[in-house]
Amino acid sequence: MSEPELELAIRAEKLDAADELAGVRSQFILDDVVYLDGNSLGALPASVPGRVEDVVRRQWGELRIRSWDESGWWTAPERIGDRIAPLVGAAAGQIVVGDSTSVNVFKALVAAVRMAGDSGSGRRDEIVVDATTFPTDGYIAESAARMTGCTLRPVTPAEVPGALGDRTAAVLLNHVDYRTGRLHDLPGLTAAVHAAGALAVWDLCHSAGALPVGLDEHGVDLALGCTYKYLNGGPGSPAYLYVRADLQSRFDSPLPGWNSHAEPFGMRPAYEPAAGALRGRVGTPDILSMLALEAALEVWDGDGVSVEAVRAKSLALTDFFLECVAAYVPSGRAESVTPVDHAERGSQVALRCADAGDVMKRLIERGVVGDFRHPDVLRFGFTPLYVGFGDVERAARVLGELLR
Ligand SMILES: Cc1ncc(COP(=O)(O)O)c(C=O)c1O
Repeated sequence: MSEPELELAIRAEKLDAADELAGVRSQFILDDVVYLDGNSLGALPASVPGRVEDVVRRQWGELRIRSWDESGWWTAPERIGDRIAPLVGAAAGQIVVGDSTSVNVFKALVAAVRMAGDSGSGRRDEIVVDATTFPTDGYIAESAARMTGCTLRPVTPAEVPGALGDRTAAVLLNHVDYRTGRLHDLPGLTAAVHAAGALAVWDLCHSAGALPVGLDEHGVDLALGCTYKYLNGGPGSPAYLYVRADLQSRFDSPLPGWNSHAEPFGMRPAYEPAAGALRGRVGTPDILSMLALEAALEVWDGDGVSVEAVRAKSLALTDFFLECVAAYVPSGRAESVTPVDHAERGSQVALRCADAGDVMKRLIERGVVGDFRHPDVLRFGFTPLYVGFGDVERAARVLGELLR
């Protein structure tokens, strides 16, 4: 090891020794690979395989249909919603789990337009969408706009305040940009949307479980997110939908499936929505995935495991990674596109780099797993529950070796 490498390796050791979340890693099934792709698919919590086995063998295999009541299958969407709620700053009774993020974007946006109604000067018929959004949100917003007779207005988050007016019905924003890792100003943008009389819909895929969101505190109207990234629910685990308590009686779902009926087993021809967040349910929940997610969320029950502790460690990890990259990577070979300012940084670092696809392939061969985003971005996600400072130093060192 060279002298700077030795110095950074010693610092990493000290930071790991002082890390109060270090012990949480043992609750995950991991090997000696440096796993920096938890912003795409979280690692496997050790409690999940046993729980899934029980759900399959005993609950399904032995209790069979009795499990809808006796194993709590029927109420799982709202029960698990209440487990996610404190992680995103929401009181109980406002979140249901189910369907994919994409489907929940659709439900939330159409319902938002329906709730927005008229302004003094006519119908609110414009949906503002983050032009830099993860593509699925943009595709679905375009379809939601066509179906509701709205115009779609794609603008960057910075341009949102200037784009708002008395025609704006709803604004769909990503809390953290999936490509650059930029954290957007949820309180400020939500307040601006409200000042224009519109509804704010937030996609929390890259923030829930990584940093405080404060849904209730900041008066967010509707929100949604996936559970397979920082919540470690597993591949394709169900997403969630937040409907603020005081909006629930007006939430008119565009997908009014029988699970959201006031009396689902009444089998009535006429639809009558259930009270509360249950209105966000659609059809039969995906029990195997949902109960795997429920087991995964138990990691958050540990002593000292809180979103605040996770955020503090996340910022320390990304700071240290940027420092190691600056020390190890030849200048000009990789440039960070992630904000330096903590107030604008999520839990990932994105480096723009020539031949990024090939570089990531070689990093993975060397035991450092991040991902590549077209056309030239190396993306590294930092999940504080299982990533340590030694991992960070090693990842940057291997990257430096490859780029020299
Ligand atoms: C911001 C954001 N929204 C949505 C999705 C994906 O949606 P879905 O869960 O429906 O595949 C992702 C996936 O990475 C994402 O990053």
